[in-house]
Amino acid sequence: MGLLGPNGAGKTTTVRILTTLLQPDAGSAEVAGIDMLRHPERVRASIGLTGQYAAVDEILTGRENLVMFGQLYRLSRKAAFARADELLERFKLTDAANRSLKTYSGGMRRRLDLAASLIVAPPVLFLDEPTTGLDPRSRNDMWAVIEDLVADGTTVMLTTQYLEEADRLANEIVVVDQGRIIAQGTADEFKVQLGGERLAISVPAGTDLDLAGRALLSAVHTDDLSESDLVVDADAHQMTVPFPAGSRGLAEAVRKLDAAGLEITDFSLRRPTLDDVFLTLTGHAAEDGEDAAEENAA
Ligand SMILES: Nc1ncnc2c1ncn2[C@@H]1O[C@H](COP(=O)(O)OP(=O)(O)OP(=O)(O)O)[C@@H](O)[C@H]1O
Ligand SMILES: [Mg+2]
Repeated sequence: MGLLGPNGAGKTTTVRILTTLLQPDAGSAEVAGIDMLRHPERVRASIGLTGQYAAVDEILTGRENLVMFGQLYRLSRKAAFARADELLERFKLTDAANRSLKTYSGGMRRRLDLAASLIVAPPVLFLDEPTTGLDPRSRNDMWAVIEDLVADGTTVMLTTQYLEEADRLANEIVVVDQGRIIAQGTADEFKVQLGGERLAISVPAGTDLDLAGRALLSAVHTDDLSESDLVVDADAHQMTVPFPAGSRGLAEAVRKLDAAGLEITDFSLRRPTLDDVFLTLTGHAAEDGEDAAEENAA
């Protein structure tokens, strides 16, 4: 399950409540079928958690960190070492096993952090923004690891601000904004809900976006389109409308925009993305994760 939402939406708060780290003011929840208010200790025995901020120790080496976690889980010293080596291997950290964490890159740290939450192979795993701040390659590696865990039968709940990530990893997506669930379903359901292809145009900075929007709507001109179907990203000088005519209607739409005297810097026809879902549902774009990465660094 992917919990998708921008900064401050309440993702970490939800994870902290479900992992018994934070007491809810009201309501109830079950994790792995266990009432988390009545039996928090049983919930804790069934879950793993990789928090938004690393829980690993800076001074210890990678192996020492995992052994320490193993011992906290009450494994024998020998079993803790064996498990540490297995996990180092699995997360491609064997070569760095004896180095202090201070020398690890962000991606390596994130992998070690995830390894630490897998010491006892929990049936339910919570991952709070597992790939925020990672480069595309590390992110792909992390995605592969998460897909393997799911294939092995682990139930994973992950939070993310990356629509692409929820699309790729989650069977079910819950979109949150300002502490509330605003939508839930599969990635495909969200896309179907938004109809067929979409036409996106970019205009130069300084263009009157209201005028441009009206020109776009009338160029597309379908009777059942209204102003609420127009999604405007003012910062990016970009706007999108549903475009049921598909590529057949494209030439005509371009001619009409041209006739309206609208200057266009970019133009594309594409299938709806989860980004469209977010814009349509909340009226604002999901943050792209860059800000969160900066926050983490600060
Ligand atoms: N202990 C707390 N007491 C009061 N308010 C809090 C507490 N922790 C978080 N909040 C507030 O709750 C809201 C949700 O925060 P939360 O950390 O859950 O967001 P998030 O979705 O994880 O955001 P991000 O993507 O930035 O990690 C924010 O407005 C935050 O300031
Ligand atoms: Mg958070």
